[in-house]
Amino acid sequence: PNGGLTHNAALADDYTSAASIGGTARSEKKSKKKRKRGKSSNSKADDGISNEGISRSHIHTGMTADFGSKKHKKSVLSPLHLKGMFINERTNLPVYQHSADIVHLISNNDVVLVVAETGSGKSTQIPAYVHESGLLKISAKAAAANVSSHLPKQKYGRTICVTQPRRVAAITLAKRVSEEMKCIPGTIVGHRVRFDDTTDVKGHNTTKIIYATDGMLLREAISDPLLKRYGMIALDEAHERSLQTDVLFGVVKRAMAARKREPERHKEIENVQLKDDADETLYFEKDEEILIRMKETAVALGLPPLRVCVMSATLDVDTFRSFFPGSSMIKIPGRQYPVQVVHSDQIYEDYIDAALNTVINIHKNTPDGDGSDVLVFLTGQDEIEDLASLLKRHLEDLKNDNSVDQNVKGDVVQNIKGIGTSINSGCSMITNGVLICVLYASLPPEQQMLAFRPKPKGCSRKVILATNIAETSVTLDGIRYVVDCGKHKSREYKSSTGMESLVVSDISKAQAAQRMGRAGRVSEGICLRLYTKESYDLLAETTVPEILRVNLAQVVLQLKSMGIHDPRSFSFLTPPSADSIRKSFEVLAALGAIDESMDLTDYGKEMSQLPLDPIYANLLLQSSKFECVSEILTVVAMLSAENIFYHPGRGGDDQGGLAARGAAAHRRFASYEGDLPTLLNVYNAWRKEASYTRTGNLRKTKQKISKGKSSSALLSHGDWCTQNFINGRALTRAHDVRSQLSDLCSRLGMDIHSSCSSEMTTFYRCICAGLFLQVASRLPNSSQLQVKKNSRYNGAETIPSRGHYKTKIGGTIVSVHPSSTLFGRNPAPKCVVYTDLVHTTRMYIRGTTQIREEWLNG
Ligand code: CDP
Repeated sequence: PNGGLTHNAALADDYTSAASIGGTARSEKKSKKKRKRGKSSNSKADDGISNEGISRSHIHTGMTADFGSKKHKKSVLSPLHLKGMFINERTNLPVYQHSADIVHLISNNDVVLVVAETGSGKSTQIPAYVHESGLLKISAKAAAANVSSHLPKQKYGRTICVTQPRRVAAITLAKRVSEEMKCIPGTIVGHRVRFDDTTDVKGHNTTKIIYATDGMLLREAISDPLLKRYGMIALDEAHERSLQTDVLFGVVKRAMAARKREPERHKEIENVQLKDDADETLYFEKDEEILIRMKETAVALGLPPLRVCVMSATLDVDTFRSFFPGSSMIKIPGRQYPVQVVHSDQIYEDYIDAALNTVINIHKNTPDGDGSDVLVFLTGQDEIEDLASLLKRHLEDLKNDNSVDQNVKGDVVQNIKGIGTSINSGCSMITNGVLICVLYASLPPEQQMLAFRPKPKGCSRKVILATNIAETSVTLDGIRYVVDCGKHKSREYKSSTGMESLVVSDISKAQAAQRMGRAGRVSEGICLRLYTKESYDLLAETTVPEILRVNLAQVVLQLKSMGIHDPRSFSFLTPPSADSIRKSFEVLAALGAIDESMDLTDYGKEMSQLPLDPIYANLLLQSSKFECVSEILTVVAMLSAENIFYHPGRGGDDQGGLAARGAAAHRRFASYEGDLPTLLNVYNAWRKEASYTRTGNLRKTKQKISKGKSSSALLSHGDWCTQNFINGRALTRAHDVRSQLSDLCSRLGMDIHSSCSSEMTTFYRCICAGLFLQVASRLPNSSQLQVKKNSRYNGAETIPSRGHYKTKIGGTIVSVHPSSTLFGRNPAPKCVVYTDLVHTTRMYIRGTTQIREEWLNG
């Protein structure tokens, strides 16, 4: 019954029966019955989504269409005629049959909700349909006809912006759609993510479809709350409820209200929070005035209405319906085969080990070849790297195991040469016919691509080790087996302590369903859950939106710089607690971004110009005062590019002493003072090498540059990075980020060349002044501590306090993370600043740097 799997340590015999995704036969029957009886369009079916027929004449605001039933198919419009590349692939996607209806709905409604499984074609196709239909051109012209002719009005409202919570999705989607439209990336289609913008390469406003991270559009709304350029905003991956997407819902709703062509509309701000004192009422009045001004501007400029398309794999329909009253919905079933779910019969303390056994078991006992790939969900990079190493070693051991079918595996040895050995190859390697791919958000995009590419020659099965990034935001073809650890890593903020940390926690049932769904895309699949049925039953139904879990200081700063004086009156999809907004005000006040009347200060305005968390914006701005802008620019840029250090052979697989060599190489950069100066050392050493390489190979370099390669790209591939176990691409990215940040600093009038050169005290004082909210002091050695462990290893333990710290804000007991250069230092520094709090087996501080306590007083 387990699809050829033998029972192993990780699996139990019992499993729930095959579960199909999408509209069930029962709900379809029910909806047909309702249609027969002629029920109203808002009647609800089992899944909370109403199923009503659609024809051109029936389309009206508030209607809902489920295109799953046969009856609907007769009434849909003929699909659009497509041009460009990949026509067959495009016309085979589930959304294609409804292309004309989707465009029709978008043209007739302010807000359209599109619900369709991952891989149905929402993100790549819907923007293209709207673009190719010319809908935005027509409505921009119509709106412009109503205003005086001297305005350059046609340029407004002609672009589509598709927002994504993740960089990788924005980049890959823009690339794919450019290919489909047969255009050079950056011309008609481009991406805009932090520190990387490929749009408008042919001139101002020339890109017509922009794939942007939600944060980038939010940033644009600061300077242009009417979002004038756009005729349609597609908010993709709405179910993820990422912080920035959630804020965008309100921002887009405000812009939509201001651009709506209905003069009688006056009450535009909905979901207003109750105010409890007169001062706050004053703020609300200011917000209303701003909306009136926005409306006047929209009319004067002849802005066309802003159309909104909310796209999602699953949607909490009621929440969105009440937020966007009168919105229309289309539900398109994906192609989903049944997936058999198998729960384990025991709780695993070490789910990495359970995942290892499960994958090996799958590989040993099931046929490989096309459509046999395995997707393993883990919580983060460390776990993924650990499992990748362990798997590689075990797969090598399997080569000598006679019980394994060796069909194609004979050629493999030849093919692995040159792939598995490159240290910058993204941990991808073919072993015993299995290609191990890793996929997590901070992995550089080029390395992420390996998981999407077709299997190379000599590879009979792909095993993809991924975080929740693979749940919905990317499409992976060919997966038949899903192994789900039942956990994810998420940011969590305690407004009681004002502290945010990365926590490994249980997923929700909705996430478990999405993970399971990844297995049934190409054929019937199997989902192996490394947790019991009882544990599953205890999971929350849906994931708590990020806005209820994280530090809101950056959001509050953004809202204030958009002219929203009181964020409590802002129209949030799910309003955050008053307490967490109050805490954010406290942080912003402590940083000097707002004054006693909650108004943005000039310093706060400067902070909002920098695409950084307020804490790091403050650090950078402080560097002017301490005359070390150059060093702090480097540190902030290096912090934004993750994975600078390459750690080979994690998880016990040392690959011939590489791990020890890597650690020794890294030690050469280590600063006694901590991690931030260590990052500075790495960058400076790399730049020094770069100038040396440039001088030594001037002629060669010139030739390569003239062939179109940038100098920094050349440097990243140098031997230097390999020898020093440094991720060259991450360094190149840090270099790019640094130059963009330094442009922004120049615009703010800062002297970007100011440097503390040999006298580093000012640098440390600056770090202290910048990160003063993230300080921890060493505990006296003699006391004993009760340390609470996390859910993965339940219980508490008593440990000696030696080497432990207490955070200044929140008073949490923490230890220095083993990845930090200050880990295990004897004597441990008395006082440190840190960049992250991480909650794994216990609370850790990462990115630590020692400071002197007296510096905190000014
Ligand atoms: O948005 P949704 O998950 O519904 O689908 P999509 O991202 O538009 O993907 C539709 C199809 O386009 C996928 O099944 C892939 O075959 C292809 N695609 C691709 O080749 N490369 C990408 N970066 C994204 C999608």
